[in-house]
Amino acid sequence: MNILVIGSGGREHALAWKLAQSDLADRVFVAPGNGGSALEPELTNVSLEPMDFDGLIEFALHEKIELTVVGPEAPLVAGIVDRFNDAGLACLGPSAAAAELEGSKSFSKQFLVKHGIPTAAYGSFESSAQACEFARSLPLPVVIKADGLAAGKGVLIAQSYEEADKVISHMLEGNAFGHAGHRVVVEEFMQGEEASFIVIANGNTYRSFATSQDHKAIYDGDLGLNTGGMGAYSPAPVVTDVIHEKILREIIEPTLAGMIADGHPYTGFLYAGLMIEPTGGIKVVEFNCRFGDPETQPILLRLQSDFASVCLGAVNNELNDCSLEFTEDAAVAVVLAAEGYPLAYRKNEEIQGLNKPGNSKVFHCGTMLEGTKVKTSGGRVLAVTALGKSVSDAQSQVYEDIQAIGFPGMQYRRDIGYRAVSREKRLVASSNKGSTSSKGNNSRD
Ligand code: AMP
Ligand code: GLY
Repeated sequence: MNILVIGSGGREHALAWKLAQSDLADRVFVAPGNGGSALEPELTNVSLEPMDFDGLIEFALHEKIELTVVGPEAPLVAGIVDRFNDAGLACLGPSAAAAELEGSKSFSKQFLVKHGIPTAAYGSFESSAQACEFARSLPLPVVIKADGLAAGKGVLIAQSYEEADKVISHMLEGNAFGHAGHRVVVEEFMQGEEASFIVIANGNTYRSFATSQDHKAIYDGDLGLNTGGMGAYSPAPVVTDVIHEKILREIIEPTLAGMIADGHPYTGFLYAGLMIEPTGGIKVVEFNCRFGDPETQPILLRLQSDFASVCLGAVNNELNDCSLEFTEDAAVAVVLAAEGYPLAYRKNEEIQGLNKPGNSKVFHCGTMLEGTKVKTSGGRVLAVTALGKSVSDAQSQVYEDIQAIGFPGMQYRRDIGYRAVSREKRLVASSNKGSTSSKGNNSRD
C-alpha cells in the first residue's frame, strides 16, 4: 500500500523511516518532509504543507494512499482526520473533538477531574484578577499555562506571587500567545520525575509503546528555557513494573473510557506526560494527541514489530490482532540544535559529517536539501540516535558518533539520559557490594 506521513520534523522522519520498513509498504510519501526524508531512498517528499488539507486530500486520492499518519498536533486539532474520513481516506489520529485533549488545557483538565484521573489542582480563567487571586491560594511555585497550542512555550513556573501576577497579565492582556493565551490555566506545582507514556488506541483497545523520558530544558542539568525537547531516551527506568501497571489502570484506561463516555472515542497516538511522585503517585501533566518529538526517535529505533500493520490495525479497529515488541536494548537520542535556539536562531548553515553516522541513526529535524548539500532550516536540526545494552552504553555511542557531525553554531546537551545513567551506576555499585535486591526496580516498556 502507499502511505503518507504528514509533517517535517525529526518525528516524521522517524515515523516514515519505520513505516517504510514494513512489507506492507509500497511507496511512502512525506509532506513536506525535510533533508533527511529527501535522502532516504525509500521515501519521497511532497511539497505540501500540513495545514493544506485540500491539497493533501487531492494528493492522497490521486496516489491511492491507503494510510495517512499525521505527525504534528496543529492539523489534528484543526480536524484533518475528520476531513480525510469525509473524503473516504484512512487517516490515523484523533478527530478534532478528541484532539481537544491537547488543543485546550482547560478541556483536558476538566476531563481529568470529571473522570477522576489524577492531576494537579487547577483553575481556568479569562480574567486576570480572578487568576491572580487563585494563584495566591496555591503554595509556591505556581504553574501558569496558556490554554491553547503554544508549541511547548506556553508554560511558566512562577517562584513568587508577583511573578505569577506578571505572567498572568502578560498572557491574558499582552496577547503574547495570541488566541492560545486568551484563557489561562493556573495550577499547583507537582514534585517528582516526569515520564512520557505513549499508546496507540482505537476506542478502548490500545497497545503501549516503550516508555521514555525527554529533556525539555536547553542546558545540561535541566536548566534554562524550555524547548521542544533536547533529547530523549527509552526505556525510562522510573517506570518500574508497578508504576507501569498503575499508569495503565489509573491513567490510560480511564482516559480512553472517559473519551468514549463523553462521545469522543479516541483513535491514534495518545501521549500522556506524567509526573511520577516520590510517593509512587502518578499524575497527568499534559496530554498530547500525537507522538512525542524527540521521543519517537529512540522508541521507534527499538521497535521490532511491523509499524505499518499496527497503524493500520488502529485505523481499522483491529488492534486486538496487533502487538508492539521492542528490543531489550536501550536507545538515546541527542538533539543537535542551532545557535540561539529556542529563541531566534541561525539558519542555512551547511551540515558536515552526515555520511559518517558511526553506529547511530541520524534523524533530521530542521534540515533541507539544497542540491547535494544538507543545510540547517530549523531550531532543532538533527536527532542522533543509538542503541546500547544499557542507557549508559547508548549514551556513550551517541556522544562518540556526534563528534563526526557539525555545523556552525551547533549546540547540544552533554547529559541526555543522566537520570537513567545514575540509576544504572547505583545498580552496578549495589550489585558489586553483593546486594541482590533489584526487585521492583526493573524498568518496563
Ligand atoms: P506542559 O506543556 O503542560 O507539558 O508543560 C511543560 C512542562 O512544564 C512539563 O513538561 C513540566 O516539566 C512542566 N510542568 C507543567 N505543569 C506542571 C506542574 N503542574 N507541576 C510541575 N511541572 C509542571
Ligand atoms: N517531547 C515533548 C513533546 O513531544 O511534546
